Amino acid sequence: MTRIFINYRRQDSEGYVGRLYDHLTQHFTPQDIFMDVDSIPPGVDFVQALEDAVADCDIFLAMVGPQWLTLADEHGERRLDQWNDFVRIEICSALKQGKVIIPVLVGRSRMPNPAELPDEMKPFARRNALELSQLHFAQDVKKLAKAIQDAAPAKQNHKPRPDSETLNQKEAAIKQVRLDLVGATESPLYQFRIENRLFPVIGEGNPDANIVFIGEAPGKNEAAAGRPFIGPSGEVLAEMLKSINLLREDVFVTNILLDRPPEKRDPTPEEIAFYEPFVDRILDIIQPAVIATLGRFAMQYVLKRLDLPEKREPISKLHGKLIKARMHYGEVHIVPLYHPAVVLYSASQKATLQKDFEKLKLFI
Ligand code: URA
Repeated sequence: MTRIFINYRRQDSEGYVGRLYDHLTQHFTPQDIFMDVDSIPPGVDFVQALEDAVADCDIFLAMVGPQWLTLADEHGERRLDQWNDFVRIEICSALKQGKVIIPVLVGRSRMPNPAELPDEMKPFARRNALELSQLHFAQDVKKLAKAIQDAAPAKQNHKPRPDSETLNQKEAAIKQVRLDLVGATESPLYQFRIENRLFPVIGEGNPDANIVFIGEAPGKNEAAAGRPFIGPSGEVLAEMLKSINLLREDVFVTNILLDRPPEKRDPTPEEIAFYEPFVDRILDIIQPAVIATLGRFAMQYVLKRLDLPEKREPISKLHGKLIKARMHYGEVHIVPLYHPAVVLYSASQKATLQKDFEKLKLFI
């Protein structure tokens, strides 16, 4: 399933859009093609509503007709220069969210130069466009459909369902990681575990999950029960998963530290290094298509582990982004998320966390 958003301006390209829609439905299901954001109820932040609609798509098509650049309102002010122009808001939102954007040229139009665009739209000028000509419309749409299929991020990110034997093997392999950890007396947190009668927390969930969540470290509740995210942060995580209709038993939840550190302190580099081979083994067994990190420690851990260019960026910049990477078994998407505990300290962060979780819908 590939969700396609068509951004267009009625006065500029309405006729072409109808025709394009009809042809696209021969390649994609009509429910996955969005042309108009549903009516936005009074009182709702319309910029937010448009951003959310864009967030839901895999591919963003921007229709550029002959008057795309120049259309103006009744006062002569160009539409694209107005802060509340829907076409501009949607394109800027798609740029900001790192969506695959394909400009679709119709009516013998051309791509704009950066100098002709408002600053925040300039990167749009660099997107490679596809032209739909009157004469070869059906053929051109076929090319467009192929380009959409090739570019859709979700396509490579759903694993086929495993047979029951594979599932059993994976489950057994994860149990073995737990046994190895139970006996790992050289762990920097082993003494603390034993003295306080705690359990290691290897993680839990589907051993063949499409999405693996990686948090920071088990807390008091988790280490007492040997299960991740069952305390207050776990409640927030449960709420977020529910909001996107994702069942906890369908994902796998783990941490970068698999034992509780004392006094709620940050993980030390030594501890992170000790648990790394165990976390690697878990990822190797599950082979997820998506690694969603919870909090900055888990994010930095994964970005450094995969040596990605984003590894020095702060979480304030990367949260909610989809970062493509390669594991030995294939392509993965890293999705950095704030730690659920942020909501416990600052309720206003809930909306941000919720919005970022929405990104995971692409992989469900
Ligand atoms: N916080 C985490 O990072 N992990 C847990 O398992 C619980 C709380």
